[in-house]
Amino acid sequence: MTGPDDTTGRGAVSTASPAGISLEAAARAREADLPTGAEKTMLVRSMFDAIAPRYDLVNRTMTFGLDVHWRRQSLRALALPHGATVLDLACGTGDFLKLLRSGGYRALGIDLSWGMLAANHTGLPLVQADASALPVATASIDGITCGYALRNFTDLAAVFDEFGRMVRPGGRISLLEVSEPESGLLLAGHRIWFRRVVPVLGGLLSDRSAYRYLPRSTAYLPSTDELRTLLHAAGFSSVNRRALSGGLSQLLTATRSGRP
Ligand SMILES: C[S@@+](CC[C@H](N)C(=O)[O-])C[C@H]1O[C@@H](n2cnc3c(N)ncnc32)[C@H](O)[C@@H]1O
Repeated sequence: MTGPDDTTGRGAVSTASPAGISLEAAARAREADLPTGAEKTMLVRSMFDAIAPRYDLVNRTMTFGLDVHWRRQSLRALALPHGATVLDLACGTGDFLKLLRSGGYRALGIDLSWGMLAANHTGLPLVQADASALPVATASIDGITCGYALRNFTDLAAVFDEFGRMVRPGGRISLLEVSEPESGLLLAGHRIWFRRVVPVLGGLLSDRSAYRYLPRSTAYLPSTDELRTLLHAAGFSSVNRRALSGGLSQLLTATRSGRP
């Protein structure tokens, strides 16, 4: 699926595996014995259904509240005027939606998990759908935000194609994901925290198996170069990747190509 002004020749790009993630990420997922395809979608949906009631508490605790700061940075980087229509994809319990509303945007949330949507009390329009096939008209929105969901999608290439289809030329996307500091003490500390402490903490506060899965799920995440290639192929230009808080999180922004 491509957008109205697609000039990317998506067919020529072959970074995606048959499972819809990059070849490199698919190999890592196989190595880590992680599910792909429909099995992954089912696992992800039931996992988020299970952790929804305590999702916000665990999130704040395991990031020391930094996640709030990262979402604010992501919103600033979206750089769209007040009144713009923004889809928050994989909206979960609604943290991004609240920020979008207070920033003066017309916001809409979509998520796969009914449990997460039930815990979303923003009062904004919400839709249950899978990110790879979205009930949003072509070139009808100005922007997309998406927090910490890229590694959860089953078919990332299809999701980015949907971004390219839905966002009008000149529109913007701002995507947050987990990341790892490049080296040094911060990397060592992050590995201990994320791989050892978070599963225990998540187990105590919420669901043990879900928070054991969380650090493992980073194996699905394509490299920056692969993400860039997929976004270009989906019709985006000016793709920019920024490390946040020394690399604890990453922020990807891009502009939909074509004449506005
Ligand atoms: C880690 S949570 C992030 C929630 C929220 N964006 C935030 O910043 O806190 C990931 C979210 O992605 C949603 N999700 C996972 N796979 C999805 C899919 N295929 N389509 C739509 N949403 C999906 C999950 O249900 C969950 O709410």
